[in-house]
Amino acid sequence: MLEQDIKKVLISEKEIQEKTVELGQILATEYAGKNPLLLGILKGSVPFMAELIKRIDIPVQLEFMTVSSYNGTMESSGEVKLLLDVDTPLKGREVVIIEDIIDTGRTLKYLKELLEHRGANVKIVTLLDKPEGRVVEIDADYTGFTIPNEFVVGFGLDYDGYYRNLPYVGVLKEEVYSS
Ligand code: XMP
Ligand code: MG
Repeated sequence: MLEQDIKKVLISEKEIQEKTVELGQILATEYAGKNPLLLGILKGSVPFMAELIKRIDIPVQLEFMTVSSYNGTMESSGEVKLLLDVDTPLKGREVVIIEDIIDTGRTLKYLKELLEHRGANVKIVTLLDKPEGRVVEIDADYTGFTIPNEFVVGFGLDYDGYYRNLPYVGVLKEEVYSS
């Protein structure tokens, strides 16, 4: 079972759920009457986005983008590539980027600049923030949880593509990396 690979639970399912209720209410208030476009970054944001959108009690639209900044497993390549784009005009749109985690900041800096260049007003919501990992200057407008500089998995976050389906955020046992 997946749980056997987890050394410790960092953020429980209940904590995540309560946080999404809180963030959903904040976003509903901020974007009431503004027809926001919620832009999920695949694939990591999927569980967070699914929770969050149920708590935003105003009309919203959804879009998705895929970018890659990680070569394989745990090291950032430093290069961001756009793999899947939106097919909606963004000029003048209120866009809310929904991301799983900000680490070096490269992914979100790239995305924010790209979307602003297309004329969108952009804000960022992230489930997790690792401020110690920052290499470029960028901050989220709304953060679920600030975490220490540890590699985490679960609730969308993966190791080599796996563990995204864990219902909580946790730290992997060392033997999982070395095997
Ligand atoms: P940057 O460095 O561009 O990274 O801010 C954002 C992307 O890096 C991945 N990332 C992680 N994925 N556990 C993961 O599973 C982590 O601890 C972690 N830190 C960064 C993630 O894909 C994110 O979108
Ligand atoms: Mg990601």
